[in-house]
Amino acid sequence: MDRRQRNFSTHRGLGLFQHRMVVDVMAKEKLLADLFLDTLKDIYFAERKIMSALPKMAKAAQSPKLKAAFEKHLGETEGQVERLDQVFASIDETPKGKTCDAIMGILDEGKEVMDEYKGMPALDAGLLAAAQAVEHYEISRYGTLRTWANELGYKDAVKLLDATLKEEKATDSALSSLAEAEVNQHAESAQAA
Ligand SMILES: [Fe+2]
Repeated sequence: MDRRQRNFSTHRGLGLFQHRMVVDVMAKEKLLADLFLDTLKDIYFAERKIMSALPKMAKAAQSPKLKAAFEKHLGETEGQVERLDQVFASIDETPKGKTCDAIMGILDEGKEVMDEYKGMPALDAGLLAAAQAVEHYEISRYGTLRTWANELGYKDAVKLLDATLKEEKATDSALSSLAEAEVNQHAESAQAA
């Protein structure tokens, strides 16, 4: 019987609430540094998924400008993964991903658009919107990570995360401009297809 089991049997006579309290006290306290590392793993997983989704989105896009925007962001995403490798190294951790259900869901929706709007005038508008949903998820994560890194005194991480955050915001605004200048109008008219 290990110590944990012994503690359980010692407290067998306690009510469920007290029993839970005993278990909570025994669990390792999770601090901001743990949350930072877990969230870093989440975005590492997400970036790698995005890296494999972008070529498919570029291939599906009809507008040459949208295709180019996706291809450009693929190159940036590769750099962002490298930056994350450096963030892990800066806190003496090995780069590792943690399944991020949010990005899987967002990318699944993008895939749905690709299937359901294949060959349709509204395809690009849907792809662009899916890409912006990805960017917004990333902006949220990188913003949080940068703030936490600052709080934790991880100076190198702050710089790296900030550089990526700026890139994601620039991509988001380039996509907005492209939507307004071209892609949405194209989606509005069948003749434009
Ligand atoms: Fe990214």
